[in-house]
Amino acid sequence: MKRIGLLTSGGDAPGMNAAIRAVVRSAIYFGMEVYGIERGYAGLMEEILVPMEMRSVSNIVQCGGTKLRTARCLEMLTEEGQKKAVSTLEKNGIDGLVVIGGDGSFRGAKVLSEIYGVPTIGIPGTIDNDLEYTDYTLGFDTAVNTCLDIINKLRDTMTSHERISVVEVMGRHCGDIALYSGIASGAEIIVVPEIKVDMDDIISRINRSRANGKHSNIIVVAEGVMSAEKFAKQLQEVTTYSVRPTCIGHVQRGGSPSMADRMLAAQFGNKAVRLLKDGIGNRVVGISQNKIIDMDIIEAVSMKKKFNFELYETLQMISM
Ligand code: F6P
Repeated sequence: MKRIGLLTSGGDAPGMNAAIRAVVRSAIYFGMEVYGIERGYAGLMEEILVPMEMRSVSNIVQCGGTKLRTARCLEMLTEEGQKKAVSTLEKNGIDGLVVIGGDGSFRGAKVLSEIYGVPTIGIPGTIDNDLEYTDYTLGFDTAVNTCLDIINKLRDTMTSHERISVVEVMGRHCGDIALYSGIASGAEIIVVPEIKVDMDDIISRINRSRANGKHSNIIVVAEGVMSAEKFAKQLQEVTTYSVRPTCIGHVQRGGSPSMADRMLAAQFGNKAVRLLKDGIGNRVVGISQNKIIDMDIIEAVSMKKKFNFELYETLQMISM
């Protein structure tokens, strides 16, 4: 393989830049050329290509966001859009592609591999941690740490006023950000899309914690269930404790990547290039039981994310 393309797609995630750097430098190490494709699949269709050199990725390992910028591209779901994307690759002599993104981006990568025969490697880059085949996605650790920083501050003021804080984190279908930030911040309750909301149970847990001597409560709500504002309003109708909503929002998608995300980025990027160098495409890379793995893209995309109920029970047991 002589020339590869690289794009970031979907919601950005801290660590994407570190992965871009790892891909570019690894490819150059193996004597391959790299073209960065700006604005994800949209840029692929519009042929926005930039040659990437060793120095194009200097000083970005520590930066949040993505230097290549990103987009959510609905046209990639159409045959017309897919053909445009493939024609850009052919026209520019690009014989392999690395896609850094989440579930939706991987579906585009799968089509390019499966239908059009473009050797493609997916690197999981999303704060959601919603891909079943990998234990962690790039950006999740940093996003959770950002949520923790905010929840720690909320705990200070909630305790002073003996209030309940309802904190909304991202996660439309996957409760992992709520689960991990809930456990790590000592939240009493998490509300996730995978488990039906039981307001009576929530109230009794709050009352029990107060009877046990707690002066505040943190409830972490995943956005897929409802907004913090709506949840706080419903809760305020059934409790005499004062409730305050906070939505963390896009703050959790930015910022300098954590050590864990930079390490994943280095290893994922390097592994993706090694596969392409060996002529292997149609794979995704990930981490499982602390080992860097790769898997067939069709299989990976078809796996349904499972919620970790054991961790949920752990939170229930230790948060009172
Ligand atoms: O997929 C990442 C994510 O941050 C989700 O957690 C969130 O629901 C969504 O993107 C928000 O998308 P946008 O930035 O397009 O509003």
